[in-house]
Amino acid sequence: MSKENIVVGLEIGTTKVCVAVADLRPDGSLKVLGFGQSPSVGVRKGEIVHLESVHKCIRDAVAEAEQKSDVSIRSVYVGITGGHISSFNNRGVVELPEGRDEIDDDDLEEVKTKAKEVSIPSQNALLHAIIQHYYVDGQDGVLTPVGMLGTKLEADYHIVHGIRTRVQNTIRCIKEIPLDVEDVVLNSLASAQIVVSQNQKNLGVLVVDMGGGTMDYLVYVDGAIKQSGVIPIGGDHVTNDVSLGLRIPAGRAERLKIDESSAILGNCLPGETFHLPPEPGFAGREIERETLNSIVHFRLREAFELLKRQLETEPYLRYLGAGAVLTGGCSLVHGINHLAEEILGLPVQPAQPPPLQGVTSALANPQLSTALGLIKYAQFAQLEHPEPSMWMRLKSRLFGDRTHR
Ligand SMILES: Nc1ncnc2c1ncn2[C@@H]1O[C@H](COP(=O)(O)OP(=O)(O)OP(=O)(O)O)[C@@H](O)[C@H]1O
Ligand SMILES: [Mg+2]
Repeated sequence: MSKENIVVGLEIGTTKVCVAVADLRPDGSLKVLGFGQSPSVGVRKGEIVHLESVHKCIRDAVAEAEQKSDVSIRSVYVGITGGHISSFNNRGVVELPEGRDEIDDDDLEEVKTKAKEVSIPSQNALLHAIIQHYYVDGQDGVLTPVGMLGTKLEADYHIVHGIRTRVQNTIRCIKEIPLDVEDVVLNSLASAQIVVSQNQKNLGVLVVDMGGGTMDYLVYVDGAIKQSGVIPIGGDHVTNDVSLGLRIPAGRAERLKIDESSAILGNCLPGETFHLPPEPGFAGREIERETLNSIVHFRLREAFELLKRQLETEPYLRYLGAGAVLTGGCSLVHGINHLAEEILGLPVQPAQPPPLQGVTSALANPQLSTALGLIKYAQFAQLEHPEPSMWMRLKSRLFGDRTHR
């Protein structure tokens, strides 16, 4: 198989490391050829805390993905998350020189450079500068300004940045496999590529990827990304609470959360209990269902309340005509949509079927959204920059010059 057509997404998640391999076909379709997964060791709240352990997890996941897809993996698009990531919106302005009144490609580049000329902390690296809107002589809603007549070009960008050394640690870990890194992509941006449609983005939608250690979110209004962030709470915190609250081993707590719990209070009979059978090292117990549900409910309530508070720092909540879409493994908790609707005051819609072919049984698994979304992101990136210049752009972004995406 021609190596040029292969794109690979890698998520180093808090719970699992996941590799997705796809073939980018000449007709523009993407066929997922296979996955590889390995339980994560050495990742905390989406960030690497033990390089060697993570290195091994990546190697295992890559080996499985290679075997399942019959492809030799050389490079990956990697997702990134963590509390160190920040974002804001900024506008660039370019005045055309006297005697010229047609906007060209250079003006477009310059306006982007201007938008990125903002002070981010010196220890941080720019991860994304994502176009929101162009304005030509004050006219808004301009989609392609090149070729238009005008004297002033303005552009709004969503800027995402993170602590340089944390991003570098991720890259180093992958390069030691050894694999090349094509690009580093915000997890929520990757997931959004496959869980919401363009129509939902135009109507306004909140995308939340709830994993094991973080809740990554992204807000689209009028088709543009307006807000993004990371809340360091995920499904593993819920499991931990269940384990501590009911005094049961973590493995049992995890299974209980998945098989028996609900995020909704009051939907079981008063005093209802069920039996947790014994296993080696655990004597078995009667568990009160409402106690279990309360533990799950209150941790997830805290997470959604934090999310709401962050969303309320900007005015976009009222423009989300398509509501919210939840993905990530924690979105499978029973009743979570109901709780999210109550707290966020938004309807929660199901994720759209991923616009991908192949391994269909796995495509709808919300735990794979980031890895699959990275593949979709790669497709857009390759259409935008057909030359293999990604690593050069990435290198300059992390090691100095900040003049790209
Ligand atoms: N059926 C299920 N019901 C409830 N929770 C589930 C289910 N399946 C998985 N989870 C939970 O989803 C979480 C893992 O989700 P996911 O694989 O998306 O996380 P991750 O990508 O590894 O972590 P992160 O993105 O936060 O770094 C775990 O907390 C797990 O308990
Ligand atoms: Mg994840």
